[in-house]
Amino acid sequence: MLGQKYRKQLLEQMTLREKAAEMSQLWGENPDGTLMGLRRGFQKSTHLMDNAGSFLGFNGAELVLEAQRLHMEASAHHIPLLFMTDVIHGYKTIFPSVLGIGTTWDPDLAEEMASVAAAEASVSGVHVTFSPMADLVRDARWGRVTESTGEDPYLNSLFTAAFTKGYQGDGIDKPFHIASCVKHFAGYGAAEGGRDYDSTQIGDYQFYNDYLPAFQSAIDAGCELVMPGFNALNGMPCTCNKNLLSDVLRKYLQFKGIVISDCTAIWELVPHGVCADNAEAAERSLNAGIDIEMVSSTFYENLEALVERGDVTMEQIDEAVERILLLKDKMGLFENPYKDTDPEKEKELHLCAAHRALARKAVAESAVLLKNQNQVLPLKKGEKIALIGPLSDSRELIDVWGLVNGEEKDCVTIREGLSDQNIICVPGCHQWNLREMDAVHPSDEALIAEALQAAETCDKIVLALGEHPSMSSEAGSRSDLSLPANQMELLHALYRTGKPIITILISGRPLVLGEIAEHSDAVLMAWFPGTEGGNGIADLLTGQCSPSGRLTMSMPRATGQAPIYYNHLPTGRPNDADKYESFKNGYIDIYPGPLYPFGYGLTYTTFDYSPVSLSADQVSAADDSSEEPLLLASITLTNTGTCEGTETVQLYIQDVAGTYSRPVRMLKDFRKVTLQPKESTVVSFSVTPDMLKYYIPGKGLTLEKGLFRVFIGSDANTTNGKEFTLNRK
Ligand code: GLC
Repeated sequence: MLGQKYRKQLLEQMTLREKAAEMSQLWGENPDGTLMGLRRGFQKSTHLMDNAGSFLGFNGAELVLEAQRLHMEASAHHIPLLFMTDVIHGYKTIFPSVLGIGTTWDPDLAEEMASVAAAEASVSGVHVTFSPMADLVRDARWGRVTESTGEDPYLNSLFTAAFTKGYQGDGIDKPFHIASCVKHFAGYGAAEGGRDYDSTQIGDYQFYNDYLPAFQSAIDAGCELVMPGFNALNGMPCTCNKNLLSDVLRKYLQFKGIVISDCTAIWELVPHGVCADNAEAAERSLNAGIDIEMVSSTFYENLEALVERGDVTMEQIDEAVERILLLKDKMGLFENPYKDTDPEKEKELHLCAAHRALARKAVAESAVLLKNQNQVLPLKKGEKIALIGPLSDSRELIDVWGLVNGEEKDCVTIREGLSDQNIICVPGCHQWNLREMDAVHPSDEALIAEALQAAETCDKIVLALGEHPSMSSEAGSRSDLSLPANQMELLHALYRTGKPIITILISGRPLVLGEIAEHSDAVLMAWFPGTEGGNGIADLLTGQCSPSGRLTMSMPRATGQAPIYYNHLPTGRPNDADKYESFKNGYIDIYPGPLYPFGYGLTYTTFDYSPVSLSADQVSAADDSSEEPLLLASITLTNTGTCEGTETVQLYIQDVAGTYSRPVRMLKDFRKVTLQPKESTVVSFSVTPDMLKYYIPGKGLTLEKGLFRVFIGSDANTTNGKEFTLNRK
C-alpha cells in the first residue's frame, strides 16, 4: 500500500470531472475495448473511458493486461482500473448454484469453493466479485432464489461469512484473492408476488430480525463493498434510501467500505417515480451514500453542475473517491496494477483436476434426496437403465450467473457420468426443447415413443427433467412452479409402463413436486449442479456417495402457497402443517405446510433420534451481555440402516411467549454427523443467550425471560423437543 498521504495527494490533483469518472463503472463488454456502456446511448466520451474507475464484466488475462496498460497510459493520474464481475458460484469451474451450495449445510465447503473461484478469477484479472448474495428468500416464484442460500437468517449468515472469507482470504492484496461485494442491500427477496424488481414492504421487526443478519455477517467478515437492491423498500428505492445506506448500513451495521449501485439502478430512479431526471437521480443517490455508479453515467454527466448549485458537496465526492482509491491501494494496485493477471496461470488453474474434484464433491453434497421407496437407489454397477428426458444428456447444467464466465461445453452430462461408472444407459428422448413452457410439440409423440422403446428394454428408468437456465435467476420469475406440461406428459407415459422411475430434477428453485413424487419411486433435486453435474449426480445414483443434502427452502405443495417458510409466526389460530382444520390458519383446499420442509433430505440409511435431554430446565443469565452457555441440549443419534450415512442434526429454538410474537421455531445450530451402520453417538449443543435474543424495534437486541422450547431433529417439522425457562437474575 502507498498509504493515505499518497492517496490524499492524488485526490488533491484530481479535477471534479476526473473524480466523477473515478466514481463511474463502465460496462466493458467488448474485446476491442469499445465499451458496451459507451455505445448504449451514452455520450461517447474518451475522457470518461480513459478516467473511469472500474469496468464491469471485462475479464480474461490477455484482455485485462491490454486494457489496464492502455488505461494507465491514458488516464490523467495513472490510476489503475478495478475489474469487477459476477463470480457467484465459480469462475470457470462452476459449482452448484448458490441455493445448491446452501443445501450442503457446509459453510467450510462454501469457503473452499469461494477460494477456488477467487483464484481462477484473479488470474483472469478480476479484482472484485459481486458475491455473496445475502438476500433472504421465501418465495420460489422469484427467479433469484437460485442465487441465495435460502430462507433461514442464521444459515445464510454462516454462508455469507464463508463466501466473504473464501474470496478475501487473509488479505485482498495477497495472491489469488479478490474483494467481495455483498448484495442486494436490502430486502430484495421480498419482492411482491415473487415478481423481480417489484416493491418490498418490510417492517422493522422483520427487517432487523430476518433480512439484516446475513449482511451483518458478511460485513463482520470484512466484505469490501455493498450493493443496494433494485427494489423500493417501503416506498423508497434502496439506491437513494438515505436511512438505509447511511443510518442502517454505516451506523447500525458499521460498514466502512464502498457502496456500488446495481446495474443502471441510478437511471432507474426516474421510472421508480422518485426523480424527475438523471441529474436529480445523481443528486439523490450520492446524497444517500452511493460511491460508484454502475453502467449509467449520471454522476459523470451531472456532478459538476450539482456541486455548482450546492446540491452536493465536494466533501461527499471526495469521501466517495477516497473509498475507491483506498480499495485500489489495499489491493496493491498502485504498485502493481496487474496484480494476479497471468495468461499462463489461467491455463494452469481454470478447470484443473483439483477444482473439478471439488466441484464434483460439492454436487454430491448439495443434491437432496426427496424420495427413495423400496431402495430403488443406489444403482448397482453394470445395471442397465433407460436414461430418458431433456436433461439426461444435456450440458445445460449451469445457471445464468454461472454462464457469465463459465461454459456449458465444460459440463459433464448425466449420461457421461453414469457411463463412466459402468451404468449401461439406453437413451431416450434427449432432444426435448426445454424452452417451450407448455407447448406440446407434434414431435413429442415421436420422442415419447422413443422413450417408451428405451424403457421396454430396461428394468429401471432414470428420468432427468427440470428448468432451462433461462427459467430462473434475474428476471426469471415464474407464476407457476410446476414443470412444463410436456415434461409431465413424458413422466405419465413412462409411469404407465409400471417400471420404477428415478426422477432427477435440474432446477434453480423449489418446484411443486407432488405429482412427480407420486409417479416416481425416487426423486433427487440436483439444482443447477454446474460443471461436474453429471459426475456428482452419478456418484449419488451409484452409491459412490451417500446423499446428504438438506433443503434450505421449503418445497411448496402448490404455487399458491408462496411465500412459504418454516420460521413463520404462529398466528392466533395455528394449524398443523400436515392436516386441515377449519377456522385455522391455512387453506380450504390444501394442507398448510410444505410438501418437504426446510432441513429435509434422505440418505441411503436411516437414523434414530433419542428424546431431547436438557442439562437444566430452569436457567438464568447474569445480564444481557452474558455469553455463558445456559444449558446443554443433547440427543443420541443411531444409524439404524445398513450403510454409512451423514445426518445433519438440527437444533431449533422457540420463544414461546415474547413481547413480540416469535417464529414457531428458529434454526440455531446444526451438526453434520457421519455414522456407520448400528453406530451411535451423543450430539450436544450449547444453548447460549445469543440464541434467544431478538431485535425489538426501538430497543435493539433483547434477551427476554420466559418459556422456551428446544427441538432437535432432522428437519424443521421435528416434534422432538423439551422446554426450559429462562429467569432473569
Ligand atoms: C445485475 C444484478 C446484480 C449483478 C449486477 C452486475 O443486474 O442485479 O446482482 O451483480 O447486475 O452484473
